[in-house]
Amino acid sequence: MDLTVAGNRAELAGARRPGSYALVPTMGALHDGHRSLIRLAHEQADHVIVSIFVNPLQFGPGEDFGRYPRTFEHDLEVCGEEGVSVVFAPAVEDMYLPDRQVSVSAGAMGTVAEGAFRPGHFDGVLTVVLKLFNLTRPDVAVFGQKDAQQLALIRRMVADLDVPVTIVAGQTVREPDGLALSSRNRYLSPDDRATALYLSKALRAGAASPHRAKEAAKAVLEEAARLKPPLLLDYLTLADPATFDEVPAGHRGEAILAVAAKVGTTRLIDNVVLTV
Ligand code: PAJ
Repeated sequence: MDLTVAGNRAELAGARRPGSYALVPTMGALHDGHRSLIRLAHEQADHVIVSIFVNPLQFGPGEDFGRYPRTFEHDLEVCGEEGVSVVFAPAVEDMYLPDRQVSVSAGAMGTVAEGAFRPGHFDGVLTVVLKLFNLTRPDVAVFGQKDAQQLALIRRMVADLDVPVTIVAGQTVREPDGLALSSRNRYLSPDDRATALYLSKALRAGAASPHRAKEAAKAVLEEAARLKPPLLLDYLTLADPATFDEVPAGHRGEAILAVAAKVGTTRLIDNVVLTV
């Protein structure tokens, strides 16, 4: 089956075929993490749509919207290899009306953890994801556990707004040494990368001792703060998977140990799901 590239909503509508659809929303710069989501999407529906759109709404002032990696030809090759039916890659002007007014609010859950460091980020994510759902009308949409708070908020939006789509989550794909794949990893110099490895190292230390997960992870991150270049921690949280609030002391059950840090000019996030 040939890959159709739809650059606007009319071409997207024209590409529709009978059968069920699974959507994998992305910002491009596709890597093996995205590939694993595409493979999971194939298990869910007859056709897979991948959207490639670097969404200006979810980047704050001073964040990397301008320099976010754009590798469209490579992305099309990946989608071709993975048997994707449609790539939807609209221009910013195709997605947003110049006088747009209405957007999705992520609520309180959009202001904690990652949301505390990126004000408005999750409103931007939910707004574009809802628009992508409305444009592509998928039966299933696939998201990565790598962005755990994003995934939880999308599930929340689907429940709160009765969005007719089934959300499926894919496991985080990692390099053999533990570094979670990310489009932003290409910014890392070899020294940066050596420091960045401490993110996953800290999470593994936390997972290995779930009763004192945060303390164990913190010790590793403190070590990383003394490296050259140093790891500059934004937050480490043991969060309630449903709300992303920090779990109270003595919490039992599932929790997400999530971390965000800067290495050089690159900001990285990672997480692991624990049962305490
Ligand atoms: P992007 O960062 O391109 O990620 C697209 C999808 O790939 C997300 O669901 C993300 O969680 C998943 N992903 C990223 N790294 C992964 C890894 N190492 N293993 C498995 N899955 C991984 O997330 C976004 O784009 C945007 O916010 C978007 C949802 C497209 C809205 O603009």
